[in-house]
Amino acid sequence: MVKKYVFGTPFETEAVTEHMTALSPDSGVGIGEVSTQEGFCLRCRMGTLDVVYGLGEANRGINKRGYLYVSDCTDDPEHVEDKVSLYGAHNFIVISGETHVGLFFDYPAAICFDIGYTRQDMLTVSCGYADLYLYVITGDDAYDVVKQFRRIIGKSYIPPRYAFGYGQSRWGYRTADDIRAVVDGYRRNHIPLDMVYLDIDYMQDYKDFTVNSERFPDFAGFVEEMRAQQIHLIPIIDAGVKIEPGYDVYEEGVEKGYFCKREDGSDFVAAVWPGWTHFPDVLNTEAREWFGGKYERLISQGIDGFWNDMNEPAMFYTPEGVESVNEAVSEYARFLEAGDASGLYEEDLMNTANALPGKVRERLGNLQNNEADYKRFYHNVNGRRVRHDLVHNLFGYNMTRAAAEAFEQIAPGKRILMFSRSSYIGMHRYGGIWTGDNKSWWSHLLLNLKMMPSLNMCGFLYTGADLGGFGANTTRDLLLRWLAFGVFTPLMRNHAALGTRQQECYQFEHMEDFSHVIGVRYRLLPYLYSEYMKAAVRDEMLFRPLGFVYPGDRIAVQTEDQLMLGNELMIAPVYTQNADGRMVYLPEEMKLVKFMPDGSLYEEILEKGVHYVAVALNEVPLFIRKGRCIPVADAAQSVDAVDERTIKMTGYEGAEYEMFAE
Ligand code: GLC
Repeated sequence: MVKKYVFGTPFETEAVTEHMTALSPDSGVGIGEVSTQEGFCLRCRMGTLDVVYGLGEANRGINKRGYLYVSDCTDDPEHVEDKVSLYGAHNFIVISGETHVGLFFDYPAAICFDIGYTRQDMLTVSCGYADLYLYVITGDDAYDVVKQFRRIIGKSYIPPRYAFGYGQSRWGYRTADDIRAVVDGYRRNHIPLDMVYLDIDYMQDYKDFTVNSERFPDFAGFVEEMRAQQIHLIPIIDAGVKIEPGYDVYEEGVEKGYFCKREDGSDFVAAVWPGWTHFPDVLNTEAREWFGGKYERLISQGIDGFWNDMNEPAMFYTPEGVESVNEAVSEYARFLEAGDASGLYEEDLMNTANALPGKVRERLGNLQNNEADYKRFYHNVNGRRVRHDLVHNLFGYNMTRAAAEAFEQIAPGKRILMFSRSSYIGMHRYGGIWTGDNKSWWSHLLLNLKMMPSLNMCGFLYTGADLGGFGANTTRDLLLRWLAFGVFTPLMRNHAALGTRQQECYQFEHMEDFSHVIGVRYRLLPYLYSEYMKAAVRDEMLFRPLGFVYPGDRIAVQTEDQLMLGNELMIAPVYTQNADGRMVYLPEEMKLVKFMPDGSLYEEILEKGVHYVAVALNEVPLFIRKGRCIPVADAAQSVDAVDERTIKMTGYEGAEYEMFAE
C-alpha cells in the first residue's frame, strides 16, 4: 500500500507519475515521528536486525545502515569511504526486518539520511525546508515494496539493442584517426566492440553540438564509415554552453532568455571545460524544449546515442568566486604594507615562505562547486523564479529529459542511447546513468557491484561504472576482473581519464583473454536483454541483493559481494588482487557454470553452503539457480552479429526459460 503525505508547498519534481491524493500528515505518517519545527525531520527507531536498502547511487554497502548520506548532486571524483554525496540524488529507502516499509522523500534540495550513524538504532532523515511529499509504502517483503514504488514512478528507460554491447571510451581521443585506431585495435585482435565514445575533444572549443572540422573533416561520413564496421559513435554533451559571440546556441539562448539567471536578471556565468559558460535553464519548459532540439544537429549526422555530463551542474569557478580570491590577495597586501598582523591567519605568521596566505588558499580551495554559487542563480519555472539550491538535484534529470523529449520529436519511436552523470528519481524514465569518475581501485570494483541493486530499486536499470577505473592507472588483472563483472551490467563501458595509462584491452599482453571475457557478454546477450526487458516492462529489478530472494536466510541477507541477476542467476565476481578464486555462499543448491577460455562451459552442481570456487583471470563464472536454465549463444564481435540460431539452453535438465518476446 502506498500513502502520499504532503508537507508545506513542495516543488513538483514529477518523479512520481501515478496520480494520488495527498494526505495530511497531521495525525502522523504511520512510521516514526515527524517534526517541522526547523526544516523537516523524520526520526524512527530501527530494530536490531533491520536492514536498510536503497539510495541508488550512494557510497558504502548494499545495507546502508551505519553511516550518513546526503543527497546533494556533487561533482567529486574522490569516492573514498567517507564521502557522503555522489552525483545522483535517489531518496528512496526500504527498512526491512519484521515489517517492510519504503520511504520516498520527494524533495529536490539537499537531504540527509542518518541511518544509524548518530545512534545505531535510529534513522533520521532531515532537510532544510518542510516542503516535500513523503511516500510511505508497506508491503509483504522488501521486493514487494520496491515493485510498488517502481509502479508509481513510471517505466524505466529502454536503450537500443546495440547499447547492450561493449564500448570503449577515453578522455583524450581527439581525431577521427584516433577513433579508427581504437576500432582497428579491437577488430584486429578479435575483441568484440559496439561503441566508441567521443569525449569533449570532438567538439570545437568544447562547444555543445559542434564538431571540430579539422579533426573530423567529414563527420557524417565518418559516422557512416564506423556504422559499416558495426560501431556506434557516442558523443558527450556537457551542461555549460560556451559564451562566445557568433556561437548560435549561446546567442539564441541569451536572446530568448533560456539561460539560468542571477538575482539581478543577468545571465549566470560559471567556468567549465569551455571557459566561461551559461547554464541552459532546463527547469523551464520552453528552454528545455529548445536545448533538447539541439541534439538534432548530431542525430542528423547519423548519431544515435549520447552521454550527458557535468550536469550537477559542475562549476570550476565563477566570477564571484575569483573576485573573492582577489579580495583576499589585496587584503593580504594591505596587511603586509601596514605591518598589521591582526587580520592574518596563524599560518601566515609562521615562517612559510612558499605558502599562499591562508585566506587566499582557503578561497581558492572553495572555488569549485561552491555552495554560495549554487545560491546565486535562478530558474524560471512556469513564470515563477526559483533559486537553484532549492531544486539543485533536478538539473541532470531535466537536462536528460530535455534530450529524451526531443528524441521523440526528432525520431519518433526510435530508441536512442542516453545516459547521464547526475540524476534524480524520475530521470530513470528518460535515460540511464554511469556512476561517474571512479578510480582504478579494487575497492571501486566492489562499490560498483554494491550500487547496482540500489540503482535498480530507484528505477535506474541501464547503468554501469567506468570499467577498469577512470582515474589512476589500471592494471591488466584489475581490468580483466572488472570486465568479468561488467559483462553483467547493462552499460558495459571501459573509460579512462586523460593522462592515465592506456586502458584499451589491446594494450595488454594476451589479448585473447580479453577477447574471451568480453565474448561472454555476447554469449549472454539473449539472456541479459530478455531479463532487462522483463525488468523494465514489469517494474522489476535486474540485480537484487540475495536478501530479496532469500529473506529468511541471515547469511544471504548479510552477503554484500554477490548478487542475483535476473530470475535465474547468482553472480559472485572476484574483486581482490592476486586471487585464484573466492569463497562463495550458495543459499540453495545451484549449478556453477564457468565460461572457459577455449569457449567450453565447465558445469558442476554445488550444494547449499560455502564453497571455494577457483576462477582464473580469463574465466567468467555464474551460478544457475536450482531447476532453472538460461539461453547462451555463440560469441560474436558485435550485437548485430549474435546469431540466435546458435542459442542453447544451459543449466538444469528439463528446465524452461521464458524468453522476452518484443
Ligand atoms: C568528467 C566526466 C568524465 C569525462 C571528463 C571529460 O570528469 O565524468 O567521464 O571523461 O569529464 O569530459
